Amino acid sequence: MKKIEAIIRPETFQSLRSSLSEIGIGGLTITEAAGTGKQKGKTGLFRGTTFQLQLLPKLKVETVVDDSQVDEIVDIIINTCSTGTIGDGKIFIHPIEEVIRIRTKERGAQAIL
Ligand SMILES: Nc1ncnc2c1ncn2[C@@H]1O[C@H](COP(=O)(O)OP(=O)(O)OP(=O)(O)O)[C@@H](O)[C@H]1O
Ligand SMILES: [Mg+2]
Repeated sequence: MKKIEAIIRPETFQSLRSSLSEIGIGGLTITEAAGTGKQKGKTGLFRGTTFQLQLLPKLKVETVVDDSQVDEIVDIIINTCSTGTIGDGKIFIHPIEEVIRIRTKERGAQAIL
């Protein structure tokens, strides 16, 4: 199992969500985030001086899935969250040891679905 953690532009979320739901991914956690990447939050120049460091609003989307679904989901994120300009975000893939559904005590693949 893997956790796919994507930091995305908030305005791309609805399209991502509907594409994920089309392939049966419903388990999502969304967190409002703020961050900076390579440009340290700078979005341009002002009278020749760069803006001071800013934290830009992003959404963090996390979903834990079977290994076999990772490539498909990464493709969907890239397709729905890309504008081709700086600040489109990043995807982090983490190994997941175990998933436990609290209500039923099911574990692993049974607990993801
Ligand atoms: N190395 C990192 N670790 C943790 N979070 C990151 C990292 N890089 C980017 N982020 C998060 O992703 C958001 C978007 O990053 P961003 O798309 O600007 O990355 P970038 O590396 O600067 O790429 P680009 O050049 O396309 O802007 C940031 O606001 C931050 O929340
Ligand atoms: Mg950037």
